[in-house]
Amino acid sequence: MDILFDEKNGVFKIDTEKTSYVMAIMDTEKLLGHAYYGKKISDVDVRYLLRTSENPFLPSVNGRDRGSVLDSFPFEFPGCNVGDYRESAVELEDGNGCNANFFTYRSHRIFAGKKPIKGLPATFGNESDSMTLEIDLEDKVLGVTATLSYSIFQGIDVIARSAAVTNHSKRSLFLTRIMSASLDMDCEDYRLLTLHGSWARERHMDYREIGYGKSSVGSVRGESSHQEHPFLGLVSGRAGQEQGEVYGFHFVYSGNFLAQVEKNQFDSLRVQMGIHPKNFRFELKPGEVFAAPEVIMVYSDRGLGGMTRNLHDLYREHLIRSPYRDRKRPILINNWEATYFDFNTEKLLDIAREAKKCGIEMLVMDDGWFGRRNDDNSSLGDWTVNVEKLPGGLKYLVDEVNRIGLKFGIWFEPEMISPESDLYRAHPDWAISIDGRTPCRMRNQYVLDITRKEVSDYVYECVAAVLRSANIEYVKWDMNRPLCDLASKGLGSANQGELSHRYVLAVYALQERLISEFPNLLLENCSGGGARFDPGMLYYSPQIWCSDDTDAIERLSIQEGTALLYPLSTIGAHVSDCPNHTVGRNTPFETRGHVALAGTFGYELDITKIPEADRQAIPGQVAMYHKYNDLVRRGDYYRIASYRENHFFDCYEVVSKDQKEAMIVFVQVLNRPNFRSRRIRLCGLDPKRNYRNEDTGEILCGDTLMNAGITVPAMWGDFCSKLIHLSAE
Ligand code: DGJ
Repeated sequence: MDILFDEKNGVFKIDTEKTSYVMAIMDTEKLLGHAYYGKKISDVDVRYLLRTSENPFLPSVNGRDRGSVLDSFPFEFPGCNVGDYRESAVELEDGNGCNANFFTYRSHRIFAGKKPIKGLPATFGNESDSMTLEIDLEDKVLGVTATLSYSIFQGIDVIARSAAVTNHSKRSLFLTRIMSASLDMDCEDYRLLTLHGSWARERHMDYREIGYGKSSVGSVRGESSHQEHPFLGLVSGRAGQEQGEVYGFHFVYSGNFLAQVEKNQFDSLRVQMGIHPKNFRFELKPGEVFAAPEVIMVYSDRGLGGMTRNLHDLYREHLIRSPYRDRKRPILINNWEATYFDFNTEKLLDIAREAKKCGIEMLVMDDGWFGRRNDDNSSLGDWTVNVEKLPGGLKYLVDEVNRIGLKFGIWFEPEMISPESDLYRAHPDWAISIDGRTPCRMRNQYVLDITRKEVSDYVYECVAAVLRSANIEYVKWDMNRPLCDLASKGLGSANQGELSHRYVLAVYALQERLISEFPNLLLENCSGGGARFDPGMLYYSPQIWCSDDTDAIERLSIQEGTALLYPLSTIGAHVSDCPNHTVGRNTPFETRGHVALAGTFGYELDITKIPEADRQAIPGQVAMYHKYNDLVRRGDYYRIASYRENHFFDCYEVVSKDQKEAMIVFVQVLNRPNFRSRRIRLCGLDPKRNYRNEDTGEILCGDTLMNAGITVPAMWGDFCSKLIHLSAE
């Protein structure tokens, strides 16, 4: 990795191991142009790629037809309302409705290491494993600077990019748009790849053609959302799983986002990612800085798989901070699908006793243990134990669970308030709402305005007091509705447009406080399933509940889309009971185990009531988890076949970094009568090594396994699965 500046020609070149990113300072005006991003190149001065001497450009910006330059120049940080009609990276309104900016190069720094971004999650690196380029741009008329930051990491082909805007003038300015990354490039034969979904159907891969004009995904729900994901991929027409060119952009942020491509009259693309401009208006007082969240950019010439493995390595090594990052997580049993709200101490202890016999290591008490919460209509905000359900209190229950030999975990939904709660009766104004309007209820609850200090302090103290009161080693932090009715009594009338972003900052601050006071806590984020599964939350919790849909077959597509970007160690996945509570489907217990193995692995069922054969299978599954979890957590992930594409089977593989071991999970979704065996070609093995198939004893060479592949004979029935383990001889 290296970052260099060619002073004579004004060119910046950022090199990761296999990629290059080039920018140049152009013309006497010092425009910062984007020249190249892609496979590594040797030359530094590639300014010809800016095409400034071609029609309709002029040799220099001479003023006669300045618009033709500005409306087509590949800007690294495009301005607004001065001649470039494409989307701008930043919009700054002066308070009188005038909104124009034009940034040019001022200075730069190159240094070892990477700086944190105040108040925001971000990738981290030290002086020996990362490097950063910071470029200061300025708009002299506004008196504003923008600092663009680019960091790279040893051995990983990504660039972490962000932007910070500083108001050096003597009056307030209002930031109404800030894209953390803007990238101008030629539009080749790319398709747009995004992750689309809904509750219980999160992160399904979706491709579309890129037409003229703008194509975008985004969230304005105050969370990264079930519906769209803060990711955008450009996949070349020739690209596949392991070959061809792919660009990926992933936002390290948990709130409103916009991810957009704009194809213009010259078939150029402008890719942008940042906080969604809708309802966003942030005051920058004199001297203030606005730091925009980070975007991870990745280029792969080894298809989607190359992008995936770079992101997995980045997140495992440079984003997740939890001490659990490198550790096997305790196998938990969660009582949500087992009991919903209908539980008490005895019921939980029965589950714990039976779980212990099977080798399960932690009991998690989900929603319903506090206030008068016997259904989802009340008590959010009243974080005191319901002693009718839990006689003897929480400490008694936790001590008993510990005595049985299990760790104990608990559920919270700290950001919410039920209208039917003591908290709401005492502080109705703490709910986010607009004066004169009845706020919209969702799941019969409102959102607390945690941007107000007294509210976030209350919330924190409630959670911390519970954690201090007993030996609680895990927290599931849930958020079961999006934001709306955006107004805050803590913000002035000119500042209401700051609420959504300040809300996300407040969530981050609360979780930072929590993991600082309880550094050994295993925190799992959750949002009505997976509505806040994003890189931002991974900075605080090493795992996130992936979806409320625990059906093994539904999970194939959900987990395929999730694992496209996230390491398997982060994906909350449980074995649940059948018929499945979301889709009513029956699947073999073995398949449910194999599918949950591609995640954190746990159980979410009433172990005292499931069929005896299933209960007897649990110790075997527990042993399977212990045998493979190191590989699953640390290995390289390969997507071998997608049920989404072939409609019959699904297959993924994990290969250890030293290529000595591989695990393949094959799920036959639908059996096919009178058909041949499935042939799957493996990936990532050492072509010269021999591997033994633990099941069959067969020994085959890595190159045979990868080129000729193996055959998986059809199994009897639908929804069956097979795990294949290969070890190098
Ligand atoms: C949504 C979560 O995703 C579920 O797992 C469960 O915790 C419920 N909320 C509880 O209300």
